[in-house]
Order: sequence, then structure tokens, then C-alpha cells
Amino acid sequence: MDMPDYHFFVCASFRVSGEAQGVCNKKGAVGLIQHLESEISDRDLNAVVSSTGCLKMCTKGPVMMLYPQGLTFGEVTEDKIDEIMDAIEEGGDLAALAL
Ligand code: FES
Repeated sequence: MDMPDYHFFVCASFRVSGEAQGVCNKKGAVGLIQHLESEISDRDLNAVVSSTGCLKMCTKGPVMMLYPQGLTFGEVTEDKIDEIMDAIEEGGDLAALAL
């Protein structure tokens, strides 16, 4: 597999104990990961998703980072993910959607 063009890191508030707690998890991060995976597949993007522990921006949760673009998105919803996917597909301004 080629290196992904887009690597999303979604805070799911995982802790070392394996127990997921925290703002992003409570605000539905796991469902957002599923939506993101589904959109990537539907749009056939060269992108991968990783779930993370707390990214230390809880007040902006759910939080998601994108590399190598180096962008951070806050208050992520399914609609915002769709906007981000549209911007990727259409060459839109991803940075305008970031924090
Ligand atoms: S729990 Fe997601 S940034 Fe802290």
C-alpha cells in the first residue's frame, strides 16, 4: 500500500487502561470514526483513520487532526466531516475548516 495522502487522528479519549472516557468520547467520537471510515470508503480516498487518546483540546471536542496537512478540526460533527471530505475531493480550502 502507498503512504496515505490523508491520515486522520480522531480523539476517542482512550486511556492507558483501555477505558475510553472524556469529552470527545462522550460527544460521540466513536460514531464519528465510523462515519469518517464510511465516507473515505465511499469516496475511494487514499486515507486512513487512527483513534487516539486525549489530544488536550477537550473544550473543542470532538477533535480531529489531519496529517501531513497539519490541520486540527474542532467541534467535529458528521456534517463537518462531509464538508472536509468535499473539500478534499474538490480541492477546496481545508484550512478554512480547521481551528
Ligand atoms: S478528550 Fe478529546 S481532546 Fe481531550
